[in-house]
Amino acid sequence: MNHFQYKNNELYAEDVSLKDIVAQVGSPVYVYSHATLSRHFKAFDEAFSALPHTICYSMKANSTQSVLKTFFNLGSGVDIVSGGELCRALKAGVDPQKVVYSGVGKMDHEIEYALTTGILMFNVESEQELTRISEIASRMGKKAGIAIRVNPDVDPGTHPYITTGLKNAKFGITIDRALEEYTRAMTLPGIDVIGIDMHIGSQLTKVNPFVDSIDKLKVMIAKLRTQGINLNYFDCGGGLGIQYNAEEPPLPADYGKEIVGATRDLGMHLLFEPGRNLVGNAGILVAKTLFTKARDEKNFIMIDAGMNDLARPALYDSYHGVQAVNKDQDGMIVADIVGPICESGDFLVKGREVPMFKQGDLVAFMSAGAYGFAMSSSYNSRPRVAEVMVKGDKFEVIRERETVEDLVKGEKIASFL
Ligand code: LLP
Repeated sequence: MNHFQYKNNELYAEDVSLKDIVAQVGSPVYVYSHATLSRHFKAFDEAFSALPHTICYSMKANSTQSVLKTFFNLGSGVDIVSGGELCRALKAGVDPQKVVYSGVGKMDHEIEYALTTGILMFNVESEQELTRISEIASRMGKKAGIAIRVNPDVDPGTHPYITTGLKNAKFGITIDRALEEYTRAMTLPGIDVIGIDMHIGSQLTKVNPFVDSIDKLKVMIAKLRTQGINLNYFDCGGGLGIQYNAEEPPLPADYGKEIVGATRDLGMHLLFEPGRNLVGNAGILVAKTLFTKARDEKNFIMIDAGMNDLARPALYDSYHGVQAVNKDQDGMIVADIVGPICESGDFLVKGREVPMFKQGDLVAFMSAGAYGFAMSSSYNSRPRVAEVMVKGDKFEVIRERETVEDLVKGEKIASFL
């Protein structure tokens, strides 16, 4: 069920009118539907009910604490990539034993912090990182649970910027080196070898690349077993895509069926790191039309949100559906919807047919819950926008709009000036 629906030509999030939210909170604003977040989590979770598993929500997609708490209430853990993410997740109440730590550039203080809090495991992405984690853990008198992120060299068929599992990618340890690293890991004093990990890319719309990668890792698991190395956790990563426009990604249930089929015989505890799939279609960005202008063949709609608020169109040429919050436009028009940033790349929509928005009209950008606010910045000294969560007929501000004072916080004018 879609929780962003029209009632009397007015767009609602669940039972709350978006116009009312903007009247109280201002624009631009990100709005999330609690019912959608919960439904997505449950659908993903149920897809794996046949096997022991834990969902470690990949919080880089949306790390706002109310979103995290929604998932933690349903039993989720997190996949983190920094000490900052770990701090946020702990503040929102995560169980440290459901935290996996990925990323190619873990810093000493972050490794120490993760060891202090007692996370489940580090997904190790390089030979040197493995050594470093062992050194730090030994110094602290601890053993770090680890999985090696194996790069299976499988093409996920997605945008090059979000492809991670090809052999020339910076991520993970290549499959031909991984066996050797497992053997070495077994000899390191600060290391407890407990798992194997993969993550091949994001916004995948087919299941085959996942299954192909799992099959490659299974060969490795069999070899490890002959050497007496028995792993408990199989981390399948994230990456399951969503529908932005005409894509037809598999439903979590179909993805689940294939993955369960491919992993059932292993007798391992499965971990998943979905990000986009849980939050992407649970959030929208609402902005206001400032001005319009027509130039020869080209029409522009200037709004109060820009590439600093939603970077995906500028970065990946990505598509976000556009809906009028109040359907009172006189028709459709082919236009670019652009923001106030001083760059030509500052567009949210390029040459697409959209409602003929006029000054003051509110515009909703759909499917903006993942990598939307999380990738926003204050470029051009534009304070980051507010976030709101809706549940039924209630809504609350879950992040205040930044102020200009927030932007200059921590700055000082050098004493020699
Ligand atoms: N696990 C790891 C190790 C990851 O690097 C990622 C995403 C995920 C899980 C979650 O992937 P998901 O389920 O969300 O596809 N900013 C880009 C996406 C970058 C993805 C980065 N890694 C975008 O807006 O499309």
